[in-house]
Amino acid sequence: MSIDHEELLERYLAISRAIAGQLDFQSVLRQIGGEIHALFQHDHLDISIILPDQPECCVSFEVGMKTEWSNKTREPCRIDLSPIRDLLSGRTDHIITGDAWTDGRFHFESAFDAPIYGANLRSRIHVPLHIHGDILGSLNISRHELHKYDDGDLKIAQQIADLVSPYFYALNQSEEAQRMARAEGGARGRAEALRLGTLRLTEGMENERKNIGMDLHDQTLADLTRISHQVSQMGRKKKTTTADIAKLEAGISTCISELRRIIEDAKPGVMELFGFAQAVEAQLERSVDGIVPKIATRVIDGASPLLDDCPDSLRTTLFRIVQEAINNAVKHGRPGNLAVTIQSDEKCIHVTVVDDGTGTNKEHERSARGLDNMRVRAALISANLSICGNDPLGGTRVSIAIPRSTTPHDTHHHHIEAISRRPHEPVDH
Ligand SMILES: Nc1ncnc2c1ncn2[C@@H]1O[C@H](COP(=O)(O)OP(=O)(O)OP(=O)(O)O)[C@@H](O)[C@H]1O
Ligand SMILES: [Mg+2]
Repeated sequence: MSIDHEELLERYLAISRAIAGQLDFQSVLRQIGGEIHALFQHDHLDISIILPDQPECCVSFEVGMKTEWSNKTREPCRIDLSPIRDLLSGRTDHIITGDAWTDGRFHFESAFDAPIYGANLRSRIHVPLHIHGDILGSLNISRHELHKYDDGDLKIAQQIADLVSPYFYALNQSEEAQRMARAEGGARGRAEALRLGTLRLTEGMENERKNIGMDLHDQTLADLTRISHQVSQMGRKKKTTTADIAKLEAGISTCISELRRIIEDAKPGVMELFGFAQAVEAQLERSVDGIVPKIATRVIDGASPLLDDCPDSLRTTLFRIVQEAINNAVKHGRPGNLAVTIQSDEKCIHVTVVDDGTGTNKEHERSARGLDNMRVRAALISANLSICGNDPLGGTRVSIAIPRSTTPHDTHHHHIEAISRRPHEPVDH
């Protein structure tokens, strides 16, 4: 091919204009493809780029005709299996052939040479892309016809390669930098999440410790003092009656169940760590554990992040209401299904506990303390509580609507906290 110097210069400038601003290999190649075509004809054009972090592998980018060399998954290919391994490994500084089908340099044991036949590549030129003496990859130009390229074409190909090499080098560097930044960012994110989780866990444990301390003092210590008093009274008496023993037994069993509650209450760390929905799920699991026949449980969560943004006291109070509703359903309803739904609309966050059990009995309802506690708690967080004992599902539906505008006032908090820590007031016997 004959081409005068001026035209060549113009073409090179066009290449350099074409690649400016392209931010990935594929786009650069697409841009220069047309310009290279004007310089010499080709049927297949690709570049192979050696991976900076895996120098024994390369990836290929093709324009126009696509072959397995540039597979969609961008799987790297091993350089020692590439038909142009001699060039990529620096053993030769160019390859030019009149017939790639019969040229032994492309074909060896396990060579990835199928596309040479598949795409009917006969005349080929391969020149290295290099910078500072390091090989970045290669520019590969092929034709279907035999013996179409000469040394003049080789020279132009190398000049084009030299022209675009710095650009490819820069792209490689920036991709590598981005990849490293992503990897580092990910690692930093994970470490940060772990740190925060641990911090919250430590804080949560510290708070729990304080609460347990208070509960043991207020409840268990008081119970044991009373029992100890009873025992010493009995000791002073000549005769111990069965009534005395029954009273003692009742006192001890109250103490035991209160201790159980304290231990149980020490658990909601789940809520602080993982949020409301997870805590409800854990509660459901705990409540139906071992119940025969089995109760299927479900949490349908469409809005729990909203709750997790609410103050802890509100969330805990709400959790106590849900906890009682769940326990009531399991204890009284004998349902086959039990679901908690968390949803929101513009005005409210709605939390619903539905079972398909027996439904509630109005008479019991009036005298009960669990339901009373639920109402008091709902009032404290300005929530609307409604209990429907004959749900269309056949069971009971407890619905709580928390106005989205409500966030309890600070002085309110302590009161709510105190109530939420005491799901059952001490029972007098
Ligand atoms: N989901 C439900 N299915 C069937 N009956 C229910 C349900 N929820 C409540 N009830 C009825 O309403 C009554 C009142 O419930 P409440 O929680 O106030 O008391 P309790 O569960 O019996 O006792 P406590 O909660 O004080 O341990 C229950 O005894 C039960 O008869
Ligand atoms: Mg109850």
